[in-house]
Amino acid sequence: MEYVESAGARIPKLGFGTFQLDDDNARDMVRTALEAGYRHIDTAQMYGNETGVGRGIADAGVPREDIWLTTKVWVDRFRDGDLQRSVRESLGRLGVDSVDLLLLHWPNRDVPLGETIGALNDVRDQGLARHIGVSNFPVALVREAEGLSAAPLVTDQVEYHPYLSQAPLLEALRERGMALTAYCPLGQGGVLNDGTIAAIARDHDCTPAQVILRWHYQQPGVVAIPRSRRAEHVRANFDILGFSLSDEEMRRISGLARADGRVVNPAGLAPEWDNAG
Ligand SMILES: NC(=O)c1ccc[n+]([C@@H]2O[C@H](COP(=O)([O-])OP(=O)(O)OC[C@H]3O[C@@H](n4cnc5c(N)ncnc54)[C@H](OP(=O)(O)O)[C@@H]3O)[C@@H](O)[C@H]2O)c1
Repeated sequence: MEYVESAGARIPKLGFGTFQLDDDNARDMVRTALEAGYRHIDTAQMYGNETGVGRGIADAGVPREDIWLTTKVWVDRFRDGDLQRSVRESLGRLGVDSVDLLLLHWPNRDVPLGETIGALNDVRDQGLARHIGVSNFPVALVREAEGLSAAPLVTDQVEYHPYLSQAPLLEALRERGMALTAYCPLGQGGVLNDGTIAAIARDHDCTPAQVILRWHYQQPGVVAIPRSRRAEHVRANFDILGFSLSDEEMRRISGLARADGRVVNPAGLAPEWDNAG
C-alpha cells in the first residue's frame, strides 16, 4: 500500500468509506475491511454509525496505531466549544482516545470560518485529533481556511471519479502539499457500467470497480475511500495492487469527465464549486 504524505500525515491511498451503513452494517463491514487489509476507515458524525465503526475496529483486533481513522464534524457543531464537545462525543462512540484525521464535513457560512478553524486547531492541540482538514471546500475556501489555520490542513475530501474532473482543485492541493481524498470514487456505482471502463477491465481481466480505483491509486496526491455493504466487493476493491494502468489508459479514463458528472450537490450545503476546467 502506498501513502500520501502531507505535513507529517501518512494517509493510506486506499481506504474504506462507511456512508449509509448503519451501526450493525458498519461493524461487520469495517471488520471485513480490516481483515482484508484496509488500514484506513472513513466515518462522520452525520453517518450515525461511529459506534458500529468503533466496534468493527475492536472486533478486528488490528492494533489501533496501525489504522488511519477519520471522522467529520457536522455543520451544526461548528461553534467554538460546541465543536470540541462534539469531537469528545465522537471519540466516546468510536471507543478511541483520538482520531488520525478530523474534517469539517461541509462549509458553513453561518459561522465565521475563523471561529471553526480555531476550534479545529484546539481539538488538535488537545491531542484529540492528530491531523485536521476539510471536506467539500473549493479552492477559494481552502485558501481562506489555510490562512486562518495555525496547523497544516492535510486534505480536502471531495467527490472525485472518472465522470467528474477535479483538475483545478487537484492542482491547487498539490501546490500546497495537501492530499485530495476522493469520495464517491465509484460515482455511487454510476461509473461502473461505463463502456470504456468495461473494455479496460476486460483487457486486465479485472472488474470495472478495480479499474476505477486503480485510476485513483495511480494519481499522485490522491486517496480513495470506496464503500460497500457486500463483503465480496469490500475485498475485491482492495485487490488493486497486482496490476497497473498504462498512461494511455489513464488518459482515456480521465477523458470520460463530463459537465453533469457530479452526484453529490445538496442544496443549502453545497458551495460554489470550482469550474471543472
Ligand atoms: N465528505 C462527504 O461529503 C462525503 C460524501 C459522500 C461520501 N463520502 C465518503 O466516501 C465514501 C464513498 O462514497 P459513496 O459511499 O457515496 O459511494 P461509492 O463508494 O462511489 O459507491 C458505493 C456504491 O458502489 C457499489 N459498489 C462498491 N463496490 C462495488 C463493486 N466492487 N462492484 C459493484 N458495485 C460496487 C456499492 O454497492 P454494494 O454495497 O452493493 O457493493 C454502492 O452502491 C462514503 O462511504 C463516505 O465515507 C463523503
